[in-house]
Amino acid sequence: MYLPNQLSQRINQYIKELAFSRKPQGLYNPIEYVLSPGGKRIRPVLMLMAYNLYRDDVEAIFDPATAIEVYHNYTLLHDDLMDRADMRRGKATVHKVWNDNAAILSGDAMLVLAYQYMARVKTDCLKPVMDLFSQTALEICEGQQLDMEFETRHDVTEEEYIEMIRLKTSVLLAASLKIGALLGGASSADANALYDFGMHMGVAFQLKDDWLDVYGDPAVFGKKIGGDILCNKKTYMLIQALRSAKGDQLNELNDWIEAEQPNPQEKIAAVTRIYNATGVKQMCEEQIALYTRKGLESLERVALPAEMKEQLSQLMLGLIDRQS
Ligand code: IPE
Ligand code: IPE
Ligand code: MG
Ligand code: MG
Ligand code: MG
Repeated sequence: MYLPNQLSQRINQYIKELAFSRKPQGLYNPIEYVLSPGGKRIRPVLMLMAYNLYRDDVEAIFDPATAIEVYHNYTLLHDDLMDRADMRRGKATVHKVWNDNAAILSGDAMLVLAYQYMARVKTDCLKPVMDLFSQTALEICEGQQLDMEFETRHDVTEEEYIEMIRLKTSVLLAASLKIGALLGGASSADANALYDFGMHMGVAFQLKDDWLDVYGDPAVFGKKIGGDILCNKKTYMLIQALRSAKGDQLNELNDWIEAEQPNPQEKIAAVTRIYNATGVKQMCEEQIALYTRKGLESLERVALPAEMKEQLSQLMLGLIDRQS
């Protein structure tokens, strides 16, 4: 079996050699820019690892693995526009380097490219893989829509938040694993257990992303700290702070949420102080631990020897512990 690092190097090399360099450059340059090394490449690595549980010829699925990474990066182009984010992976975002239209249209082209690459799977897997990919892509739109709608709602519940992040983030990690398993010839019970592993771990992964958005180290995070606070994103921490804060503290939090044009640094500092005082940082960490445990339980259901699954659990635990 390959190590995650080896798979990540090989898929990075494969993506690099594809050179999406047709014309017009205005369409393809942003694609090359966002696909250049820098991302963690988690989703293709998960697909390859799931496949590698059943088969050794990992290069046979480099095209669908590329598809999942191209698709993920497409969501980032549109997400950064929607979230008014001007930095990703330590670099300016596409709509900042080029403009909004470039992020929209290069993103659209990446979605089409992702479908082209995903369709290059062996014929007997084509329908199940494309069905799962399409269902996943639609769910991500649903999650992203909820994420945006929640910005202007103050009564979002914890359950609604978990469902929103399941849709916008978890299903792609889950589908990456399940597609790898299907292509590798896994039983449907194994493929579904791997899907559930990705689903629970994906919730923990997004909870950690939200945690890093507040408590990450700006030198390594690669995105601007406090972006979620500025957008009034209803993260687990904000939902819990709105529930736990009382009296003056709650009034102050609501004032910052409703402020028309707040000073960004002051708002981030004030909301972070309220998070610290209400203990929501620890509450978020407990949720991360809870969903990580659920994920590991799902992985146990995969009918393979524990030592074969060790790398998958270690990789995920490392990701949950990540700093960027
Ligand atoms: C960022 O995903 C978007 C989320 C779902 C949180 P990653 O953290 O996997 O981003 P890259 O590709 O490694 O930059
Ligand atoms: C991203 O959630 C989910 C998708 C891109 C579909 P975020 O908006 O939290 O991701 P980052 O923090 O910008 O990477
Ligand atoms: Mg974002
Ligand atoms: Mg977003
Ligand atoms: Mg985020």
